[in-house]
This record gives sequence, structure tokens and C-alpha cells, in this order.
Amino acid sequence: MSEVILDAAEGAVIPIFAVADHETEAFLQTQPQAVQAFARFAEFKGRLSQTAVVPGADGAVACVLFGLGGGTPDAMAFRGLPSKLAAGVYRIDRTPDGVDLRDAALAFALGSYRFDRYKPSGGERAKLLAEGCDVAEIRHVAHACALARDMINTPANDMGPRQIESIAREIAGQYGAQITVIEGEGLLEANYPAVHAVGRAAVAARAPRIIEMTWGERDKPVIALVGKGVVFDTGGLDIKPSSGMRLMKKDMGGAAHALALGRMIMAARLPVRLVVLTPVVENAISGDAMRPGDVIASRKGLTIEVGNTDAEGRLILADALARAGELEPTLTICLATLTGAARAALGPQLPPFFTDDDDLAAALERSSREVADPLWRLPLWKGYAEAVEGDIADLKNDPDAWAQAGAVTAALFLQRFAPPGGWVHLDIYGWNSKPGPGRPSGGEAQAIRALYALIRERYA
Ligand code: BES
Ligand code: MN
Ligand code: ZN
Repeated sequence: MSEVILDAAEGAVIPIFAVADHETEAFLQTQPQAVQAFARFAEFKGRLSQTAVVPGADGAVACVLFGLGGGTPDAMAFRGLPSKLAAGVYRIDRTPDGVDLRDAALAFALGSYRFDRYKPSGGERAKLLAEGCDVAEIRHVAHACALARDMINTPANDMGPRQIESIAREIAGQYGAQITVIEGEGLLEANYPAVHAVGRAAVAARAPRIIEMTWGERDKPVIALVGKGVVFDTGGLDIKPSSGMRLMKKDMGGAAHALALGRMIMAARLPVRLVVLTPVVENAISGDAMRPGDVIASRKGLTIEVGNTDAEGRLILADALARAGELEPTLTICLATLTGAARAALGPQLPPFFTDDDDLAAALERSSREVADPLWRLPLWKGYAEAVEGDIADLKNDPDAWAQAGAVTAALFLQRFAPPGGWVHLDIYGWNSKPGPGRPSGGEAQAIRALYALIRERYA
């Protein structure tokens, strides 16, 4: 989908005129009679996502009218445009004040995404000529988002630990990053006991592993990205009901997002020392599965009582966060499809983030608004910290019911393992549960454009 944005084109280029609803009438007055007549016939009023493909006298497309609706115009509305266009080369020749062409082009690229690995969908894609924009930048952001979505959409039989490892190796090769993978029993020798405990029930070909990718010069500030890579979450012995298990191929969404964000950073050659850490496991059921009540060790030395085998994400992240801390990062970003409670609190479209660093929170809120990648801060409420204290171990992974706020208690659990320095945890859903214009149901990239903007602003 990143190839849909062009910096040069030969042949006919079809103009797109984007208008807010209140300026539609005035704009049409500036157009030839034929365009005005067609707009009247099509009842084009500039409503949000409304599209009129206007034919010329020769029958070819003369121009496209695209509505941005009322209120403050949102460049992300351009996500809804590609699916309305036939193959061809287009150019946005008009936008309302305040809509940046670059943002519109990125939205167009994001809206061109389709998951067609298993069956062909539609014909050739419409392309957008974005002269004067930094096309390479738009492409690499779009490409990274598509990568995350493809990884999430691909079912667990084709997106197991091996496949995630090969994707990580491919990215590392592309950008000259170092990569180390510790797998299976090796996790015990290398002191990743929690990653091993969660992943050991899977068959040997899908053995647990931790993938560590390092890139950039040693003297640059260290940024650690940590992503939950549960390739499938059955719940373990505390097995999920079928309705709860149905979408659990997406439980590696955190790892997909961390790899995608890492790719953006490397493609832009940001002056940072980047570390991407993805613990990758299958939360499977076998005779060797961890049991409710087991006490497991963790890399940091804290013992953890497994109250519920379905709270597996925080276990593997505990070890990955401890590892991140050894690298002395100035900023650690943790991405995970961690709790159902996050979705109960804010729904599928608005990922909560947690941090005790108010400056970081304010900066992230700003970038989130700037790039229209929504996020909402939730508190690391200290009053609930007791709910993750263990009975016979240091901690437990199933918080006491009295604390209720499951997304908060999960974040408080992670905080016990987080490195000192800036730390932010994002409990993403990574999925469109309802299709919208340019948002097919299925895997979705959330928060990484906002995080990328934040990192660029802070370190570039
Ligand atoms: N992967 C799930 C969380 C999840 C469920 C994310 C549905 C998105 C949609 C996670 O591993 C999990 O099962 N969490 C439990 C924790 C509980 C057992 C303490 C949850 O949220 O119910
Ligand atoms: Mn689970
Ligand atoms: Zn999970």
C-alpha cells in the first residue's frame, strides 16, 4: 500500500478537490458548468466521505469531488477515498485550510490497505501523486502500519514464533540492525524464566523465544521498544471460552507494533540507539503447561504466583522489561494487547496509555492529536498496587477482584519491572471491530504514528 503514493507520474493525472460541507457551494461556483451540473445531479454536498467522480465530455474522469463534512476538517478522512476510486493516478489539488497535503496523502495510503494474503481483493489500486511532499517518509510510515496489520491479520498457523522471528530478521537485515534470538531451553540458561514458563507448552516448532534487535550508534540515547508477542492466546489451562478465543491470533499485536515502530525509526535514521525486544510465545495447553497456583521466577528476581494462566502477557513482558532496564534506556515504550479491561474502559478505538512521567504524557497527548492517532491517558493509581502483591510470592498475575480496574492493575504489575527513566505502557486493541471508511475490519495499527512523532520531536 506504500507504493500507492508517487512522487512522479507520466500521463493523465486526475485532480481531487476536497471541500468541507460549508464551503461546497462557493467552491462549485468556481468550477465549469459541467462540474456544477454533475455535482447537483449527484447531490454532492461535501458531507464526510461523500465522493463524486465527475466525468468529462469525453467520458473519462474529469475530476473527483471529496467531502470532508462539518467541524474541523480531519485529514484522516482521506482514508475513505481510495476505495471509491478506480485505478488511475490522482492528485489532491484542493484541501480546506488546515488540512495538510502530507497528512492527507498518508491517510490515503493507510486507507489503501487490504489484506489479500488468502484471496485476491478488488483490482489495481488508485495511486496518488504527492509532488512536493516527502514521499519517502509517507511511504515508510504507511509501510510500517501495513506490516503491523498484515502480521495481526495473518492467522496463528501462519504467524507463529518462527514467522515473527523471520520478519524481525528481515527488517534487521534491511537496516543493518543486530539481532539475537534466544529460544526454548536457552531461555532458562539466559535467565528468561517467565518467557519460558508461558511458552513451554507449545510444540517444539513453535518454541518460545525472545528477539532482541539493536540498531544505531552506541553514543546515542537508548530507546527500548517492548512488544507482547503471544502468537495465540488459548488462555492456557484457564482456557478461554470460544467467544473470547476467536480473535486471539491478534495477541501478538504488541510485537507487531514494536517491530513496525522500530522500522519507522530505522527508515528515518533517527539519531537514537534503538532496541526492540519482543518475547514471542504461544499460550498453549499441554502436559507441560504452567498451572494455576504455580510460582515462577522472573529475570528481575521477583517471584510471581500464577493466579490465572490467561494473564500471560504481563509475565513475558516482565522479563522483557527487566532486560530493557539492563540497557539503561532513556525511554521505554511497551506495547501490548494486555487486557480486556482496557477495551471495557475505552472501547476498541482508543488505546489507553500509562506513565508516571507527566511531561512524557503531555508530549504524547500532543503528538497523538497532531497526527490524529488517538490515545487516552489512564492512571497508575497507587491505591491499587496492593492488588498485585502475591500471597506466597512477591507478586501475582491475577489482581484481587476488589481493585476492579484490570487495565490499571496490569499496568501496575508491569511497572514493578519497568526500567527507571521514562516508561510508557500502551494497552492496545490492534483491531477494527467495526468497518469504517478506509478501516476494514481486522488488524489496525494504533499509537505507533503518535509514538513515532513523539520520538522524532524529542530526539531528532
Ligand atoms: N490477550 C488477553 C487480553 C485481551 C482480551 C485483549 C481480549 C484484547 C481482547 C490477555 O492475555 C488476557 O487474557 N487478559 C485477561 C487477564 C485476567 C485473566 C487477569 C483479561 O483481560 O481478562
Ligand atoms: Mn490471556
Ligand atoms: Zn493475551
